[in-house]
Amino acid sequence: MTEPDTGSGGRLPHTARIPYGGDYCPEQWPRDVWDEDHRLFTQAGVDTLTVGVFIWSLTQPDESVYDFSVLDGILDRAAAEGRQVCLATGTAALPPWLAKKYPEVNRTDFEGRRHRHGQRHNFCPSSPEYRRSAMAMAGRLAERYAEHPALLAWHINNEYGGACYCDLCADAFRRWLRERHGTLDALNGAWWTTFWSHRYTDWDQIEPPSALTEHWRGPDHTAFQGVTLDYRRFMTDALLGCFVGEKKAIRAHDADTPVTTNLMGTYRPLDYHRWAPHLDFASWDNYPPLDAPPTRPAFAHDLMRGLKGGAPFWLMEQTPSTTACRDVNPLRRPGELRLATWQAIAHGADAALYFQMRASRGACEKYHGAVIGHAGRADTRVFREVAALGRELSELGAATLGARTPARTALLFDWDSWWALEISDGPSRLVRYQDVVHAYYRAAREAGADVDVVGVTADLTPYDVVLAPVLHLVRGDLAKRLEAVARRGGTVLATFLTARCDEHDRAFLADVPGPLAPLMGIRVDEWDARHDHVEQPVLIGEFATSARLVFEIVQLRGAEPIAIYGADFYAGTPAVTRHPFGAGQAWYVATALDQPGVDHVVRRVLARHDLIGPYAGHPAVESATRVTADGTRFLFLLNHVPESVRMPAHAAATDLLTGKRVEQGDVLALDPLGVAVLRLQ
Ligand code: GLA
Ligand code: ZN
Repeated sequence: MTEPDTGSGGRLPHTARIPYGGDYCPEQWPRDVWDEDHRLFTQAGVDTLTVGVFIWSLTQPDESVYDFSVLDGILDRAAAEGRQVCLATGTAALPPWLAKKYPEVNRTDFEGRRHRHGQRHNFCPSSPEYRRSAMAMAGRLAERYAEHPALLAWHINNEYGGACYCDLCADAFRRWLRERHGTLDALNGAWWTTFWSHRYTDWDQIEPPSALTEHWRGPDHTAFQGVTLDYRRFMTDALLGCFVGEKKAIRAHDADTPVTTNLMGTYRPLDYHRWAPHLDFASWDNYPPLDAPPTRPAFAHDLMRGLKGGAPFWLMEQTPSTTACRDVNPLRRPGELRLATWQAIAHGADAALYFQMRASRGACEKYHGAVIGHAGRADTRVFREVAALGRELSELGAATLGARTPARTALLFDWDSWWALEISDGPSRLVRYQDVVHAYYRAAREAGADVDVVGVTADLTPYDVVLAPVLHLVRGDLAKRLEAVARRGGTVLATFLTARCDEHDRAFLADVPGPLAPLMGIRVDEWDARHDHVEQPVLIGEFATSARLVFEIVQLRGAEPIAIYGADFYAGTPAVTRHPFGAGQAWYVATALDQPGVDHVVRRVLARHDLIGPYAGHPAVESATRVTADGTRFLFLLNHVPESVRMPAHAAATDLLTGKRVEQGDVLALDPLGVAVLRLQ
């Protein structure tokens, strides 16, 4: 892997307003449709087009034939219309000739089946033929378009993901392991291979963990967590190697146009923190799970913003109306698109792009929502909403570009812990990393705190509060850095199943919670896991709540009890504790509290640092802050319910969207699903 070529803050494309538009595939259409497209784009305020994402079979119809005539036309036309292009390298879907000629480029799945040509995201990341072909394409595109007036940014590949288990990957894995572990002794120790007679005496004996080897019942059931963790890290790096290779090919011809790839938020297979230093700027595709509370997409926005040290990111895709890939694909209600877009901007997005600009006529995404539907009309509800938002964003201009989130609360998010927790046999398969982490995030956000979602190596000095829910693996100097947060007066919160294992998923040979035990001032010897219908009453002083799934039995070693269990043989023992440490505090939550319990605990923690927001009493209203380099402070207020909300303004401000000024105490009214962008004075 080559060294990343950017600092942690990265570099965003320079624009005069929030780029607005999205994925556009004119290669599917004759030229008279392009004319119509551009007419409608102008009407909708669209200034940015992501092109070439799945164009490889046209740009290279055979091994020795490159044909950029269609792409030339697309870019020239965009430039002529005054639009800018986010140019994809198009290497995420193999052209059929490549898959046929070099079968090694096709993936081998978890069950060991070598695939043939089909679908997309279908390449083996370790295949030299794939890498050579993809880099050649990226290089040729950069050579051709580096100076093109429409070029705004590079978009490498598309939604990198999945995994391959072929022999080339097995070899690459063994090389990766040598580099990571150095010796077989070290590897045997890390994976604890004396268990079940697994001691390796030659690197060649090591197999990728799959249905044919260590796994049963699928990717989460493994006999050896060590090898499975290392394979996920390796696959992250293998796919990242493809990205880095293409970026290098681009950089040979284009020294400075910012480069990204579209990530997927909380996407489990890839550890995006390993990717972050290699991206010039982060971008991601927001397709929230159905019926998810608004804090779910918000969480992913904050995670993506955390990748580049808090720098703004791009919303690379969202649907203007409906998805197609789910069993059931509900429509975004009137106003929901606008609200979701402002939510992204509130959390740090400096672009608002769609998938897709014109609906595909055939194949599996023909029913996916689009700005322009099959009938090509501008008088549809969706087009009107897109166009109204386009006008609003163009009126906003550059006001929010580059603005940062002044969060004093950090939530640690760690792919290693996510993987380790969910591939663990015991104590419970029902504990899902995202659910627990989201519960804490939600509590903080609904209390009005801005939250940075950051990796475990992030600088913790800017934060008053650090939340570390189910941080299963603790590595490096993290325990010391968390102690430092508390020592200087901050608050650290950890939960059940935090700090259980080292980076190889080996249990710490110490009291639970391992290296965090001194900070937490507790000791845990036993834990009980029960089915999710078993509800354990928990009393937090007068406040009665409940907990499920896992109940750790806590002994106090300096901490004081804040909550106690209400039933079973551990009734009366601590369920939540607080430990004074230096000038600060460490909180430990020993069980999966239900949301009201998490809310209660988190609000007490935030209150200690005066971090409860001014609108925390309005549960439907989300607030988020961004501050520009010159100190201008914006407070975004997002009403997530289809009823209007009225509340007293906490300070004098001007709403950028209406131009209206409010004084402190004036009634601030938000329409159903309405938004205000308050510039505070
Ligand atoms: C992803 C892809 C797009 C498209 C959309 C559909 O985000 O990147 O190419 O398939 O999903 O929702
Ligand atoms: Zn492979």
